[in-house]
Amino acid sequence: MIDATRVSTREQLLHALYEAAELEHNLMCTYLYAAFSLRSGEDEGLTRDEAAAVARWRAAIVGVAIEEMGHLTAVWNITSALGGSPRFGRGNFPLDPGALPAGVVVKLAPFNAAVLQHFVYLERPDGSTEPDGDGFAPEFQFRRGSTKSRLTPIGMDYDTVGTFYATLGEQLGEFVAHHGEAAAFCGDPALQISATEVDLVGAKPVICAKTALAALTAIVQQGEGAPTSSLGSHFQKFIAIREEMRALERANPAFRPAFAAATNPVQRTPMRPAGRVWIENEDAAVTVDLANSGYMLMLRLIAYAYAVPRPSAEKSLAIDLALGTMRAVAYLGERAARLPAGPSNPSCNAGMSFAILRDSAPLPRGPSSRRYFSERLRELADGAARAANPDARMSSAARVLADLAQRGERGFAAANASAAAVAAPASVGANGSTLPGAPPAAAAPAASTSAAPSGGSRPPIPTVVDGVDEIAGAKLTLLYDGKKCIHARHCVTGAPTVFLANVKGPWINPDAIDVELLAEIAHVCPSGAIRYRRKDGRPDEAAPPVNLIAVREAGPYAVRADLRLDGTAVGFRATLCRCGASKNKPYCDGSHHDVKFAASGEPPTGAQTEMLAQRDGPLAIDPQLDGPLQIRGNLEITAGTGRMVARVTSAKLCRCGASATKPFCDGSHARIGFRST
Ligand code: FES
Repeated sequence: MIDATRVSTREQLLHALYEAAELEHNLMCTYLYAAFSLRSGEDEGLTRDEAAAVARWRAAIVGVAIEEMGHLTAVWNITSALGGSPRFGRGNFPLDPGALPAGVVVKLAPFNAAVLQHFVYLERPDGSTEPDGDGFAPEFQFRRGSTKSRLTPIGMDYDTVGTFYATLGEQLGEFVAHHGEAAAFCGDPALQISATEVDLVGAKPVICAKTALAALTAIVQQGEGAPTSSLGSHFQKFIAIREEMRALERANPAFRPAFAAATNPVQRTPMRPAGRVWIENEDAAVTVDLANSGYMLMLRLIAYAYAVPRPSAEKSLAIDLALGTMRAVAYLGERAARLPAGPSNPSCNAGMSFAILRDSAPLPRGPSSRRYFSERLRELADGAARAANPDARMSSAARVLADLAQRGERGFAAANASAAAVAAPASVGANGSTLPGAPPAAAAPAASTSAAPSGGSRPPIPTVVDGVDEIAGAKLTLLYDGKKCIHARHCVTGAPTVFLANVKGPWINPDAIDVELLAEIAHVCPSGAIRYRRKDGRPDEAAPPVNLIAVREAGPYAVRADLRLDGTAVGFRATLCRCGASKNKPYCDGSHHDVKFAASGEPPTGAQTEMLAQRDGPLAIDPQLDGPLQIRGNLEITAGTGRMVARVTSAKLCRCGASATKPFCDGSHARIGFRST
């Protein structure tokens, strides 16, 4: 039994949490490494049934790795709640003895029966008699820790990870009992990562003993230490794979589900060659270099997110870029496992080594970090573009990284502008609201150089600014953006004397009706193709009091909100593609008709219908490359008829058209190979 009084200071708790972070982080890397080595499809030597099974295993192992990421997030949040800086570093593979207890051996190895058994062993519940996998015996036996109480934090010893967390929970409880909750949880909760930024089970703010202990319990119940019978635990998932694998091996003794990737690959001549594989093959070396760099950048981005208080578009941007980078890393990690290691190791392939930064402390928040991230993303994108070859995985990685580089440049430039606007004196917006810095595009001041209309008999000739027609009337300038128009016809039917149907040449005459009526007509244009700027001192269009997305029957999403699309303010109305076929994504262009998109406008009302504390405010919609619309902000999702479907502050909405849980994304975009560009 561990002496629970030993970890009783904040320093000792932080030390234990750093070990917890390293543990989860290490496990995540080893699971991903094994998943990257799995073969894919009949093209890689599997029968159809084997390929289907291996694809399931890959999904399951990656799912476990993602849950480890959730555990890691929970550990980081507890660390932050206690006033510490979360730990993003860890030792390089293979871990030296002593970093963890002797019984917890961690190294990178390709998927096979022994590695799978090792995973079963690592995730075993207390009392399990499962043995470790062959080849995972510790180099030598030792005990960490001390029976003496010391000021210096000393790693505790434990047989199972579940025991470690149980002890940590006890010690945390004692610490809180001794200091009181307010003193114990003295960290700024705004620095933690929440479900608004990332869709992980561990992303729950920790603000008290109850939430901290719940986070530790969730880690144990989902993963290491869950009861043997706990359905869906990591232990159970690995056992299920083992059973299926044994059956397939009985049917086909030649079954080899994975490539023989290296055990503990390294990028340079190893100082201690034993148990390591030096990657000499240049193609593999370039691939691993990119993969490792992407992984390191991911860590820096997450660390940075912990330095930025929420709610913040920049915090969400850092997390989005981190997750996007991991997508590229997965392609590269899979590629590395398929390339020869080099002449010194003819019998095995290479593999990404998950080399770690020498220091992964968060970069200071501000323009210098934004510059660093923009530069680094571009360097990786350029590196992948240089390495681009007919290999599909490298091309996919290059595509993802190019998209991230663009998003990073745009997003961090917006963060700089936003910081500058906050620093500058606030200005009064055209709609009467006080705005920090520049007003949103829909409320921008008039810049038209058109002549004033003659009085309404003939539509004036528009001026085209950035592809938008600007038609000057006496009291307002009407803006028409044809690329956004979905031909809802509210304009030509609501104000037929202003919006002249079926005419050649100029067709909009703003002075043909009362200006207030015309403004109302603009407000009901669902796509935002029609907007206006008042010239008579009256307020411009205001943001809606409730942010709404209506799911149109067999058609697009109709958004009404102070909309920030990919970080840019684009007005208060938009119709966004949800069939996947638009040629003007993320906007709808009517292609749902052409592809005969069939989707209900009456999705069922879900569980998330509790009234939001706030119903308006900026709504960020970030279209993910080849994936869903990532939504952040206060939002009510409604059926086309206006019935409540869900109230959310973050969501992923399907835009490939294939989700079985529309309007929400269910991951089908990957299955159908959805391309958003
Ligand atoms: S975008 Fe359609 S399922 Fe994800």
